[in-house]
Amino acid sequence: MTKINAAITGVAGYVPDYILTNDEIAKNVDTSDEWIMTRIGIKERRILKGEGLGMSDMGVKAVEQLFAKTGTKPEEVDLLICCTITGDMQFPATANIISDKMGIRNAFSFDISAACSGFLFGFATAAKYVQSGMYKKVVLVAGDKMSSIIDYKDRAVSPIFGDGAGAVLLEPTTEDLGLIDEILHTDGMGRKYLHMKAGGSLKPATHATIDAGEHFVFQDGRHVFKHAVTEMADVAAKMMEKHNLSHSDIEWLVPHQANQRIIDAVANRMEMTKEKVMVNIEKYGNTTNGTIPLLLNEWESQLKKGDKLIIASFGAGFTWGALYLKWAYDPK
Ligand code: UT7
Repeated sequence: MTKINAAITGVAGYVPDYILTNDEIAKNVDTSDEWIMTRIGIKERRILKGEGLGMSDMGVKAVEQLFAKTGTKPEEVDLLICCTITGDMQFPATANIISDKMGIRNAFSFDISAACSGFLFGFATAAKYVQSGMYKKVVLVAGDKMSSIIDYKDRAVSPIFGDGAGAVLLEPTTEDLGLIDEILHTDGMGRKYLHMKAGGSLKPATHATIDAGEHFVFQDGRHVFKHAVTEMADVAAKMMEKHNLSHSDIEWLVPHQANQRIIDAVANRMEMTKEKVMVNIEKYGNTTNGTIPLLLNEWESQLKKGDKLIIASFGAGFTWGALYLKWAYDPK
């Protein structure tokens, strides 16, 4: 039987217009452009402003662009998966809301919650549906409205995050292209270093939880940093060893954008030169689920059929992993 692979056949991305600069952040907390650039590598990030706008609105913008670029019609979509930790509501799934707004009526849809590794976990999941032969067009949306859960009076987290979303179309191919392999991990012990304290079933929202600022991101940055550097570099190196790949075999490293120092550590371990590492953290910060598709969208015009990509991430959960894929199309 011919093997079916799952390949990305189109990519799109959306970031809101509003630019939040380091200088504006420094008006609220004791920080500086110099500290943020040196310790994190972020110059600015985008913020979704306006009443009544949530993650689904950014997802819709990305999917509209994806449909226009790939000539996809809503009725052709078999499945839509949305990876986010800042869904429009606790329930229903934001994937359902995006499908409704896009007129996608012949598909089922659901959300995946894996924080910064969401795109990797979502891609691996979506690929299984495509590889089964039952699903021909799968839309994977990934993004976050991080500004909805950030305390702009907390200097430990406010400089890091931004808003944005991306989307890819996955389709079957019998060529040796698309997702080749995945190594994915979770360690729930890591939850103590990065989480939101209230708003879930463990601690529902009350006046007291709001007064205590428990609906914002809590992060013990130093601990997360140590784990991120080690695990993300280890898993990327493991993928290279598993497939007997040296740095010269890989065209692109696509790393989650959490901190320029983490990206550099992973690239160094893989011996990848700067020109082969996708980086846009300076412009957008950490958009959590959005970083990887936003990178792929920005670099799309440079990607060629057969290019070997390693995608690597680390995030809340803890969740981390690496994907090995071969790009499926030349620039259009
Ligand atoms: O994508 C999700 C996963 N998240 C990550 O991967 C994030 C991983 N962590 C990090 O990127 C870094 O740990 C941070 C960027 C969050 C923090 O950088 P750091 O170099 O680890 O700083 P630190 O937490 O060790 O703090 C060093 C000092 C402290 O002061 P003292 O105790 O040495 O006097 C902090 O209070 O820097 C201080 N500090 C700041 N100073 C100016 C912390 N945040 C700021 C700030 N501006 N914004």
